[in-house]
Amino acid sequence: MSLSISNEQLKAAAAEFGTPLYVYHAEKITAQYQQLQTAFDGVFARFFYACKALTNISVLTHIHRIGCNIDCSSINEVYLALKAGFSPEQILYTSNGIGFEEITAAVEAGVSVNIDSLSNLEKFGKAYGSRYPVGIRLRPNIMAGGNLKISTGHATSKFGIPLEQLSQILVLKDAYQLRINCLHVHTGSEIKDVAVFIKVADIFFDLVPSFPDLQVLDMGGGFKVPYQDNEKGTDIDLLAKEVAFQLNKFEQAYGKPFQVWFEPGKYLVSECGYFVTTVNVLKETDSVCFAGINSGFNHLIRPMFYDAYHRIRNISNPEGPIKPYAVTGNICETDNFAWDRPINEIREHDLLVFDNAGAYGFEMGSNYNARFLPAQVLFKGGQMHLIRQRDTLEDLLKNQIVIN
Ligand code: LLP
Repeated sequence: MSLSISNEQLKAAAAEFGTPLYVYHAEKITAQYQQLQTAFDGVFARFFYACKALTNISVLTHIHRIGCNIDCSSINEVYLALKAGFSPEQILYTSNGIGFEEITAAVEAGVSVNIDSLSNLEKFGKAYGSRYPVGIRLRPNIMAGGNLKISTGHATSKFGIPLEQLSQILVLKDAYQLRINCLHVHTGSEIKDVAVFIKVADIFFDLVPSFPDLQVLDMGGGFKVPYQDNEKGTDIDLLAKEVAFQLNKFEQAYGKPFQVWFEPGKYLVSECGYFVTTVNVLKETDSVCFAGINSGFNHLIRPMFYDAYHRIRNISNPEGPIKPYAVTGNICETDNFAWDRPINEIREHDLLVFDNAGAYGFEMGSNYNARFLPAQVLFKGGQMHLIRQRDTLEDLLKNQIVIN
C-alpha cells in the first residue's frame, strides 16, 4: 500500500468535500509508529503521541488502535484521549503554567502527571504527598530546536523547573515525601541532532541519586521531519542505538532498569497530512505574481508564525512550466505562505497542496475574519472518510449570546 496520497486522490477528495481541506493518511501514521517500534526493538521505551499536533477524535482513535500511548498538554486533551479509548495508564499529562485544579482533575482521571513549576509541585505535595507518584519537568538550559519560538529548554524558557533550582525540588520532595518517579525534559521541536537527547541523558544520569523512586526518563518529543526536499529528519535508528547504550549505562551504574519515554508529535502525524486549497485570484504586478488562495493563517499559521517552509504543489497543472509566485492568503493581514516560490504555472481555480501539513496545521487554526475552519478527511483502508465537517455560520454563532 502506498504511504502517500496521489494527486488524483487529492483532486477527488477536493471534488467530494470541497476546499480548503485537510487530508490525513492513517496508514502513514501507523508506518511512522512502526518505525519507532522497530528502531527501539529491545529497548525499554514507550511512545506517547503528543496530541497537541492533531486532536481530531478519529485520528486519536486510530493512534490508540495501533498501540501508541498519548501525551496531553491540557486536561481537555486528557478527556479527548479517554473518549478515544486510551486507558489512564496510557495517558501522560505534561502541562505548563496551569492552575492546580487541572492537576487535580488529571490525578482524578488517574493519568501520569508531569509538573513544571515549584509552585504546583508544592501544591501537589500538600494535596497528595506520597499517595500519587509524580514526574517533574526540568529546564535543562539547553538551546535546541528548529527556531527560538519552538525551543523550550533554553536558559530563558518558561518551561520546566530550572536545573539550578534542584535543591528546592529536593526540599519539597522531602517535606511532602513526594514519590518522584519520572524526570522530564523537552528541549524543543525539530531537533535533528541526536546529541541533544544524549546531553539530556547525561543530565538525568547525575540526578538519579537524588530521586530514589525514579523509574522513567522522559525525553519529550521534537524529532525532526524533513520539510524541504534536501532536508533530513532525526536519525531514529542512531537515536535508538545511543539511547540503548545510555539505558545500559544507567542500569550498570545504579543497579536497576529505567524506562525511557518519548512524546513525538510531528514525527507521527506531520508527513501524513495534506492541505488542499483552491486558487481564487491571480494578481500580476511588475515584480511579483500573487496567487491568492481560499485560505490564510487562520488555517495554516506555521509559515507566518515560524517562517516555516511547506512544500506547495500545483496538482492541477503538475507538468506546467515553473514560475515564481507569492502564495498569499485571503485574510485581512499579510499572510503569505511563500514568497518567490517556484511552482508549476498557476491558473485561477487550480488546486494547490501543502505537504507535511498533518502537525500543528488544523490544530492551530482559528475563525479569524469569521472564516470557517476547513473540513478534515482521513484516508484509511483506501477510502476517504470525512472526520470533521467544514464549519457553518451556526458554528460561528454557537456560543454567542444576543442581547438587546
Ligand atoms: N512534548 C512536549 C512537552 C511538547 O511541548 C511538545 C511540543 C511535544 C512533546 C511534541 O513536539 P513535536 O514532536 O511535535 O516536535 N507548533 C510548533 C511546534 C511546537 C510544539 C510545542 N510542543 C510547530 O508547528 O512547529
